[in-house]
Amino acid sequence: MTQEIMKFAIDDGSTNVKASWIENGILKTVVSPNSFRKDWKSAALLRGQKVFNYTIGTTKYTYDATSDKALSTTHIEYQYDDLNLLAVHHALLQSGLEPRPVSLVVTLPITEFYNPDDCQRNEAKIEAKRRNLMRDIELNKGELFQIVEVEVMPESLPAALSHLLSANCSEFTKSLVIDCGGTTLDMGVIVGEFDDVSAIYGNNEIGVAMVTDAARKALAAADSDSSYLVANELIKRRHDMSFVQSVVNDESRIPEILQRIETKIRELGDQVAYEAKKFAKHPNRVYLVGGGAPLIEGAIREAYATLGDRVVMVENPQSALSREICLYHAQQPASAIAEPVLLEVGEDA
Ligand SMILES: Nc1ncnc2c1ncn2[C@@H]1O[C@H](COP(=O)(O)OP(=O)(O)OP(=O)(O)O)[C@@H](O)[C@H]1O
Ligand SMILES: [Mg+2]
Repeated sequence: MTQEIMKFAIDDGSTNVKASWIENGILKTVVSPNSFRKDWKSAALLRGQKVFNYTIGTTKYTYDATSDKALSTTHIEYQYDDLNLLAVHHALLQSGLEPRPVSLVVTLPITEFYNPDDCQRNEAKIEAKRRNLMRDIELNKGELFQIVEVEVMPESLPAALSHLLSANCSEFTKSLVIDCGGTTLDMGVIVGEFDDVSAIYGNNEIGVAMVTDAARKALAAADSDSSYLVANELIKRRHDMSFVQSVVNDESRIPEILQRIETKIRELGDQVAYEAKKFAKHPNRVYLVGGGAPLIEGAIREAYATLGDRVVMVENPQSALSREICLYHAQQPASAIAEPVLLEVGEDA
């Protein structure tokens, strides 16, 4: 029996993989954090929890949400290595669907996908990414999805597709897309409805990690060492006092920790706004995407004050790219869009 090949859109970012697919007419999305380490986990120690032990070639890896030995995925080579293959397969398993043959549309950072000097496709890098994802990988005591086809799209830009198509763009409209991710800031200028990409920008020194690092340091100073994932959760839920109290041991330090976080958020916003203005002084529209979008929204609105509501933060900005790519490549239209599911980051170690 030949099984139907299912389509998945996957934005495999350096800190989180966002996967979207259409199931019974509903567009579904999961956000799966990248947190893998070498060697396997022993199932015996974990009550009722699923263990994901993988093998690629002769190397063993495991998914470990809270390990401080987690392998780094925040470098460009990640796009073409074992960890990327792992992260994509792991995200597919989080869909809750039975493993089956799948056809993927994945993403490459904009500055890898295009040659920075002429904005033309870099076919060698696109092919390298495709081939990496078609490699063999095994899951111990389990079955994996079979990746039978891979297509590659540029990161960030397609995230604004639906907005562009419904915004009455003329062929001269210039739309600036700003993607503030875990470790990088990517920007691009789209002309018209997607007639042309006129400029691209990538900076791997500006990202939410600036805030995460500051939060971790402030926590450590208050006798509350935390993983990267917990620090990120604290940034998101900094206004939720009961959550804050649950992660800070020395409660007298809470105001100071929150102040450090606010200062860093402001710094991140200012840096993104400065780079954006330098890159695109007078765009007609601005779209904010990526997990860091809520943190920089205020600063960008100030920087492009004259645009007013033409500065748009796309809904659920972290997974906007995978959703848009999925809708764009879908064989049938989706009748509804489900809220993205963020995978648990609870302390399981
Ligand atoms: N609502 C939110 N408020 C604040 N931060 C958030 C929110 N949602 C996600 N983030 C943070 O955004 C970051 C991840 O964003 P995203 O998934 O866009 O990054 P990525 O695609 O993996 O990274 P990159 O694009 O740099 O390769 C994490 O640090 C996460 O904690
Ligand atoms: Mg990203």
